[in-house]
Order: sequence, then structure tokens, then C-alpha cells
Amino acid sequence: MGSLETERSVVGWAAKDPSGVLSPYTYTLRNTGAEDVYIKVICCGICHTDLHQIKNELGMSNYPMVPGHEVVGEVVEVGSDVTNFKVGDVVGVGVLVGCCRNCRPCESDIEQYCNKKIWSYNDVYTDGKPTQGGFAEAMVVDQKFLVKLPDGMSPEQAAPLLCAGVTVYSPLSHFGLKKSGLRGGILGLGGVGHMGVKIAKAMGHHVTVISSSDKKRVEAVEHLGADEYLVSSDATRMQEAADSLDYIIDTVPVGHPLEPYLSLLKLDGKLILMGVINTPLQFVTPMLMLGRKIITGSFIGSMKETKEMLEFCEEKGLASMIEVIKMDYINTAFERLKKNDVRYRFVVDVAGSKLDQ
Ligand SMILES: NC(=O)c1ccc[n+]([C@@H]2O[C@H](COP(=O)([O-])OP(=O)(O)OC[C@H]3O[C@@H](n4cnc5c(N)ncnc54)[C@H](OP(=O)(O)O)[C@@H]3O)[C@@H](O)[C@H]2O)c1
Ligand SMILES: [Zn+2]
Ligand SMILES: [Zn+2]
Repeated sequence: MGSLETERSVVGWAAKDPSGVLSPYTYTLRNTGAEDVYIKVICCGICHTDLHQIKNELGMSNYPMVPGHEVVGEVVEVGSDVTNFKVGDVVGVGVLVGCCRNCRPCESDIEQYCNKKIWSYNDVYTDGKPTQGGFAEAMVVDQKFLVKLPDGMSPEQAAPLLCAGVTVYSPLSHFGLKKSGLRGGILGLGGVGHMGVKIAKAMGHHVTVISSSDKKRVEAVEHLGADEYLVSSDATRMQEAADSLDYIIDTVPVGHPLEPYLSLLKLDGKLILMGVINTPLQFVTPMLMLGRKIITGSFIGSMKETKEMLEFCEEKGLASMIEVIKMDYINTAFERLKKNDVRYRFVVDVAGSKLDQ
């Protein structure tokens, strides 16, 4: 595995162009600096953001790009100033690997809103090299952006918590929506949405899933514990549910009308946008004014919230619902994700895929 002084060559699976097809790619990792931790990747979840990025849907993709930001790994080597981690620890890495550390968000422990944040892939690190993500044998990550997994939590089950889990936990926490008894809506039952149902239920909320079809009804109610299930095209049921929700977590990854969902909110209700959508969304202002409703957005969560969320999931016994695959299936997995055909997160068994062979 090399020593602290040597640059290491690793194999990852990279998209080479906007077709988004991933194939093996060899690159080097920086030396393990004083604050750095060198991890061997165990597994990594596939988030819809990876799909947006490999296909350049946001127009800011750089190639070759090794995606993957729901990473669980084992610590192999630590730098001289690393105090929080030791060799053998099982740790998580999410969307970010860097921030400026002295702006207002950084000083308030909400470094995800730092203007100089560094993404775990498709970005440039402080050494000038491209960052590469978790669909790879190994990563070198600053200790600030690592979290230790609770003992006994399975790496595969934990991976989706590192983006999907904290993405729903953070706004519920920030907007004062953790108290029990609230009525919440989860719009779009995918990777983020299914963790939304589980986390909101564990907070004691009455949870309504709002889905584009009837296909996920049985699972949503029987396996994920949703209280109600609405199909967004069912105008009658949507009408009956008007004015009933304190918040909606909107995870739809494509342009969609907002008004049908704004109508579901009560006075002061919040529509929290999660989807990364590259087309303008529309609504007429009375939809907000006549009910003092709020449309907002939220971006992942801080390292502090990630730790809190993992503790919350451990305490409540929450896990993700996943389909574990090997790396040679990843392109099919991306196609299936695009077609809305996954229950509810793909997790790549990276260590078991033997990328070096
Ligand atoms: N804000 C953040 O920090 C953050 C973090 C993670 C992800 N995201 C973004 O959040 C969005 C959801 O991510 P995800 O990983 O949960 O995605 P996902 O697993 O693909 O789930 C999205 C869900 O949206 C619904 N949907 C409606 N129209 C769709 C369409 N045309 N294509 C695909 N799905 C459609 C589907 O649910 P139904 O079948 O129930 O309709 C689908 O399961 C993405 O845009 C992603 O980039 C943002
Ligand atoms: Zn993500
Ligand atoms: Zn900052």
C-alpha cells in the first residue's frame, strides 16, 4: 500500500465524457499529509447527483471523473496530526472534502455552505489536482471530512446515510422540524426519499409519500412505514389532502410543477427542494401568500449533522434499503437509476470488486 512518502497509484471507475459510461481509470493519490487519512474503500452508494454529474447535466463536469460520494472505507494510514482516527477504523466520506475554515459558514459548523468548499470529485484540491470519488480502490481525505461509523453498523447499509441520510436530516433539524407529531410529505420515493420516510417516521411524524405512480405503494406503507401514499396524478386524492402538511421534502430530480405540492401545505408549511434541476421552476405568488408558505432548498449537511444523524440512526435502529452490486454492473445500475428502477439505493461493493485485477 506504500508509505507516507510515496504517491500511490489507484484504479477507479471513471466517466470519460458526457456519455457517462464508466470504465477503469488509473490515477495517483496525493501523499498522506499531516491531517490526512488514507482509506481503502469498502463500498460506495450511487446517488442521483452522480448521474447528473457523469452526464454533465449541470454543464460543469470535468473528465475523467470518478464519481461516488457515499463512501465507506477502512483506515489504512494516518498522518502525524490525525487524532480522531486510527488504522482499522471504519469511516465514511460524503460530498465534501475541503472548505476554507474561516468564513461565517465554516465558523458556524455549516461548512457545506462555504463558498470555497471542495467536492469529493469533479473539483480541484488545494494541491491543484482533480478530486476523485469513491468508486475507486482508495482515497486520501482530510480528517475533518471523515466520520467514524457507529460500531456494528454495516458498511453497505451506512453508505447511503452519508448523502441521502444527512440530506433529509439537516433541513428537518435546521427548520425546527424534528419534533414529533408533525405531518410531513416525501415527494419522490428514491434514494433520498426512502431515507426521508424512515428518518421522519423515527422523529414521530405522520408521513405521506407522494409518488409519480402506484408502483411503490405496498413497500412504502409496509416496509418503510409511511402512513399515507398519494399518487400525484390522482387529482381527487390530491384535493382531499390539501392543506394537510407541515413540510414536503421534494426529491424529484427533473423539472416539475410546484403548485400541486404547495396546495398540500398548511399555513406556514415549507416546501424543501432537494432535486438538482437545471430548468426554472414556476408557481404563482398567491400560492405562497395565501398561507405564508415557504419554498426553500437545502444542501447535504455538515460534518456535525452527519455525526448526529448517524447517532440518530443507530439509536433508532434505522438502515437504508439497498441493492448491492459489483463494479462491473455500475453502468447498468446508472441506466436503471435513470429509469427510476431501484429500491432504493444501489451500493457498489468496491472492495469485493477487486479493481486491481
Ligand atoms: N440537496 C442535496 O444536498 C442533495 C443530496 C442528494 C441528492 N440530491 C438530488 O436530489 C434528487 C434526488 O436524488 P436521489 O438520489 O434520491 O434520486 P432517485 O433515487 O433517482 O429518486 C428520485 C425519485 O424522484 C421521483 N421521480 C419523479 N420523476 C422522475 C424522473 N423523471 N426521473 C427519475 N425520478 C423521478 C421518483 O420517485 P417516484 O417513483 O416516487 O415518483 C424517484 O425515485 C437528485 O436531483 C439529486 O441530485 C440533492
Ligand atoms: Zn448525493
Ligand atoms: Zn469557509
